[in-house]
Amino acid sequence: MVYFDYAATTPVDPECLKIYAQVSEDYWGNTSSLHDTGGKAQLLLENCRKRLGGALGVPPQGISFTSGGTEGNHLALLSLAFSYKRKGRHIIISGAEHSSLHSAAAFLEREGFMITKVPFTSEGLIDLNALEEAITDQTTVVSVSHVNGEIGSIQPLHDIKKLLHAKDILFHSDMVQSFGKLDSKEAASIVDSLTISSHKIYGPKGVGAVYFHPRSDIRPYMPHQTHEHGFRGGTVNLPGIAGLTAAALKVKAQDELDHYAGLRNHFFKVLESSSETPFTVYGAPDARQLPHIIGMRINGVEGQWLMLECNRRGIHLSTGSACQTGKHSISKTLGAMGLGERAGKEFVRISLGRDTTRGHIEQLAEVLSQIRHDSVHLLT
Ligand SMILES: Cc1ncc(COP(=O)(O)O)c(C=O)c1O
Repeated sequence: MVYFDYAATTPVDPECLKIYAQVSEDYWGNTSSLHDTGGKAQLLLENCRKRLGGALGVPPQGISFTSGGTEGNHLALLSLAFSYKRKGRHIIISGAEHSSLHSAAAFLEREGFMITKVPFTSEGLIDLNALEEAITDQTTVVSVSHVNGEIGSIQPLHDIKKLLHAKDILFHSDMVQSFGKLDSKEAASIVDSLTISSHKIYGPKGVGAVYFHPRSDIRPYMPHQTHEHGFRGGTVNLPGIAGLTAAALKVKAQDELDHYAGLRNHFFKVLESSSETPFTVYGAPDARQLPHIIGMRINGVEGQWLMLECNRRGIHLSTGSACQTGKHSISKTLGAMGLGERAGKEFVRISLGRDTTRGHIEQLAEVLSQIRHDSVHLLT
């Protein structure tokens, strides 16, 4: 099997797994218990918070641990919206946000908030003019992911912040796909809240964090919760948190990016050399593109069929969109870019990881070209 779905999840790093197991054995106390078993666990929890705060360049007291990116995004959008509801009830998200932000926005809509979804340009970047036009004096929150999870485009956080400047609008950014790949400290300094997830950076699954900037006076939307500064209830997943912290401290972002950029170029070169495999890539200019996520289509080949055929041949990639029973819905990102149903149906996402080699890339290109050849043959 060759795995090309690292944007969906990564295998856990053996050192992080070791830490997870060790903490499970040695720090199994409940961090909220007042006796020494609990105190020992609490000490480790606060140490992890401090070290993760250091990695993000933020005050540790702003960090609350969660079960992952989805929960972090729910907590962030709802807490921001409800904290500022006296000022207004208008929330803006990009049309290409992760489904967790669309679902949080749908919940807010049901609660009487107005939601505007801003489109992307054809380069996979937020349409800044449309964003500026969407802002009203009722707008309280803007949510735009740092890196798009389907095509890997890096969103211009500074430019977005400039539009919000002096308007008292809170800025949330989902940094699940950028954390560990880009300068998190710089990005974190721009926003009022952000989310990260452990399993995208070779940490254990089921753990992540949400950060709220202490200056922003953001309160939990659900009252009387007992853990994590009131943002979340329930006994904390200390082994997972220690594993996430270890994964975050282990990341060597620049080395990884250089590795991925070389593989990405090699992939396109190999595909271009085969005229039998016409393809279209969706993404931003190089300076605004993370190289390890390749959103693309093999022209004329349905994405879901391509994914299944690849799977049959031992290549694991994704269609980058949610599959509901009997229905293959179009990628949110391509929808936000204004691309039609054909492009959406043919879309696949290939994502590279630490273990991806040039040999794997050549194998992938060969399989894609075989499948394309077979599909043309089938249709004629
Ligand atoms: C951009 C983005 N945000 C949020 C999530 C959700 O993270 P988790 O799986 O930890 O809930 C994902 C995962 O696919 C993602 O790609």
